[in-house]
Amino acid sequence: MAFGCSFSADAPRLRRRIISLSTGTVETGRAAAFPLFACPVVDLNTLTATGNGKQDDDAAGTACDGFAERVIDWQSRSGRHDLPWQNTRDAYRIWLSEIMLQQTQVHSVRPYYLRFLAHFPDLPRLAAAPLDEVLALWSGLGYYARARHLQRCAQVLVAEYGGRFPDDPASLAGLPGIGRSTAAAIVVFAFGKRAAILDGNVKRVLARCFAIEGHPSEAPVERRLWTLAESLLPTRDIERYTQGMMDLGATLCTRLRPQCSACPLQTICRACRDGRQAELPTRRAGKVLPQQQQQVLLLTDGRQVLLERRPPQGIWGGLLALPEGTPEEAAAFAQRQSCELLHLGTCSRLNHAFSHFRLTLEVQRCNVRVLGQAIGEDRWQWLAVEAIATAALPTPIRKILLAELSGDPAADAQALRPIAQRPKATPQAKVTKPADQPSRVLRPKPSRAMPKATGPTKPPAKPIVE
Ligand code: ADE
Ligand code: SF4
Repeated sequence: MAFGCSFSADAPRLRRRIISLSTGTVETGRAAAFPLFACPVVDLNTLTATGNGKQDDDAAGTACDGFAERVIDWQSRSGRHDLPWQNTRDAYRIWLSEIMLQQTQVHSVRPYYLRFLAHFPDLPRLAAAPLDEVLALWSGLGYYARARHLQRCAQVLVAEYGGRFPDDPASLAGLPGIGRSTAAAIVVFAFGKRAAILDGNVKRVLARCFAIEGHPSEAPVERRLWTLAESLLPTRDIERYTQGMMDLGATLCTRLRPQCSACPLQTICRACRDGRQAELPTRRAGKVLPQQQQQVLLLTDGRQVLLERRPPQGIWGGLLALPEGTPEEAAAFAQRQSCELLHLGTCSRLNHAFSHFRLTLEVQRCNVRVLGQAIGEDRWQWLAVEAIATAALPTPIRKILLAELSGDPAADAQALRPIAQRPKATPQAKVTKPADQPSRVLRPKPSRAMPKATGPTKPPAKPIVE
């Protein structure tokens, strides 16, 4: 990241803006009369209430200069400076990192990012790749819609933008997979433009520092946070400020046990002053995730395993997964796949949490002899055991296959155990599945894999962790 680059040259001259610490609202104008909270050292208040020599309406900078300066100074001294996507102005690299970093932590993203870049070093190569290759490199990172949107976005940029990223947030935010905050991060880091980010970490910092009540994804609360985020922007060092907000949220102002004593905002932070760090941001009313069960079949001849390409939309969209089916359906299913069922092997269970429900997969191993080609080649795929580690598989499916077929000790032995050794499904699990409805929980449409498939599952309304 080119942190040395000063932004002030093309910064708009701002009217003086004052942020009310009690309400988090922004007032424009010269007056500085607003409620203050009693705090022994309140630099922000001092700056805003008594003036700091920049009282003119036309003076560049906001009334909350103190906030941004603290973040910028702290970033210089204690922030992160050698992440793989820093120290570049290459919009492709920055965009890729920002997409991968949506809902995913730096340490998880780093190896995926480097591998992905090595494979797809530029936009045209990503745009031209088969989706399956993109998904394979994404496999394990979760939220697979991101990978599908990423490639779609690359294709749109190549087809409609001459392979170049637009440098204004509004155009970027119209592209697949790029929201308002991601668009802002891209224009800041790639073009040095002044724009506000508001990801989950920044929401937490602002909600705590300014005691913003209410769940940050509720529309009125989010609007207020956006207004606040924009008002706090500095007129110089926008890159360092933006990185500083990200770093603060990720390293000091963490959800649990924030390190306020090391925080540059400590003396102006209302949550810290009032000991409300655990209460802010306000949590959503506790919701118990529904529990679902799904039976799947693992057809194998010991050297390969039969997988089904999932439909492009919905959970694990476009990835390879185990076909759904009960042990009773195994023989007929094997026959339709030109196999002979030799015997039913172990039955194991694996638990996996999505963001909107918990899933227990019951895996019936079916030892088969392969007699001919499977029907519907694009949908069904025999995957060689050696390819399990690198194929485009959802993490739980890879775990199952590694445990069943490769004897890989990395497979999660705790999560995947023979059913006989595990407690029966919780009563809750049974309640959530009506007796007359087969457990096709992963499938947005009725199953094509099995006969008698009925009862599509309601598609999720919220983004899901896959
Ligand atoms: N989270 C989102 N964007 C990030 C970035 N550029 N660096 C570190 N963490 C981030
Ligand atoms: Fe977060 Fe504590 Fe800093 Fe406030 S003082 S912003 S709660 S780390």
